[in-house]
Amino acid sequence: MTVKTLTVLGSTGSIGRNTLDVVARFPDRYRVHALAAHSSEERLAEQIERFRPAVAVLYDAQAAQRLRDRRVAGGRTAVLSGMEGLLEVAAAPQTQHVVAGIVGAVGLRPAYAALEAGKELSVANKEVMVLAGELMMARAQDSGAALLPMDSEHNGVFQCLAGSPREAVRRIVLTASGGPFRDLAPDRFHTISKAQALAHPNWDMGPKITIDSATMMNKGLEVIEARWLFGLPPERIDVLIHRQSIVHALVEFVDGSVIAQLGLPDMRTPIACCLAHPERLPLELPRLDLAQVGRLDFAEVSEARYPCFFLALEALRLGGGMPAALNGANEVVVQAYLEDAFSFPQIAGILKRVMDRLAARRNSADVPACLRRIATVDDAVDADRMGRQLAAAELAPLRTASC
Ligand SMILES: NC(=O)c1ccc[n+]([C@@H]2O[C@H](COP(=O)([O-])OP(=O)(O)OC[C@H]3O[C@@H](n4cnc5c(N)ncnc54)[C@H](OP(=O)(O)O)[C@@H]3O)[C@@H](O)[C@H]2O)c1
Repeated sequence: MTVKTLTVLGSTGSIGRNTLDVVARFPDRYRVHALAAHSSEERLAEQIERFRPAVAVLYDAQAAQRLRDRRVAGGRTAVLSGMEGLLEVAAAPQTQHVVAGIVGAVGLRPAYAALEAGKELSVANKEVMVLAGELMMARAQDSGAALLPMDSEHNGVFQCLAGSPREAVRRIVLTASGGPFRDLAPDRFHTISKAQALAHPNWDMGPKITIDSATMMNKGLEVIEARWLFGLPPERIDVLIHRQSIVHALVEFVDGSVIAQLGLPDMRTPIACCLAHPERLPLELPRLDLAQVGRLDFAEVSEARYPCFFLALEALRLGGGMPAALNGANEVVVQAYLEDAFSFPQIAGILKRVMDRLAARRNSADVPACLRRIATVDDAVDADRMGRQLAAAELAPLRTASC
């Protein structure tokens, strides 16, 4: 049996920890070359102790220095920091497979570097595909690198497609749980507390994606991600609310056949699918019992309840750097919400105003190049920055008012 060497970007987060859980079950199949995180020094130290990587990265330089000084596991793990550290472990000759499990746009450059270096890349970090999906797919094609979807719905589509040509596909359907407020009347949204927004009914995930799931911006970002991963136009990508989170995705073929991928909501299944591709790992997890589940419900997405989802679709329709800019704005707004700057329904209101301003710039005579087209990683970063700046401008009066 050959051993696959791994770099896990975002190893201390929900995706990273689930990845390492799978790795720990198959010690004869995987070896960890590198682990990387932002500043979770304690958690990374524990992971170094357990997985003995050759290299560890903490983006935060001070946290990296503290980790270095601890000489975990006899100090045999080199500790790097900053974007340079992330780029180095993403492209290291000693690694074969990179897991992109960082949250947010900051994961773009390392993911791109992994593809440039010809690594097999598993993408959970959907913001990467939202910022520069077309570029990522082109780079994977040039370098011959496999780009594997780790996000559960996209992994479901990938499994249903099983290599079928695009012409055979009529449409794909991604499902969405609807988050914690799928049954709450939209006129009650002002009563939502942050703790309620952070309590996802079906999935246990990091805070940013959990808030994005409550607003359903997450599903909008996933439609953008799917557009590039599967090379389908937006009108052939549908979304259904499916409260049980058992059916993750469906593919309708041109002959009328519909193939669905089902499973319990546990990220270790799509993670194992990516790590082992094209093989399957005998993963001992609780089994899906459909008789116990009893029923599977599906419903349309309501604009009154989930305006953020429709903002993302609009960004995709406008194209160019609009998705990257909206994503940047969303990251800033969600972070501010997590810092208690304003109430839950204001997230959508702020992002709508940002989108209006972006759309006006997109339609103006002097439209910035990065909004017109993402031709390089720098374009994506510029568009992301523009969205962040506009969001910060919208947030400034709210922050002042709450002081
Ligand atoms: N969680 C899920 O089940 C799930 C499912 C599908 C897709 N995803 C996607 O996967 C990505 C990760 O989500 P998550 O839920 O795992 O998030 P999370 O639990 O918040 O973890 C985020 C990870 O990214 C690291 N990180 C953040 N900024 C970084 C930086 N500048 N440099 C290096 N590492 C950095 C964090 O390190 P620290 O711990 O040091 O902050 C942490 O390891 C997101 O894009 C999300 O949309 C997640």
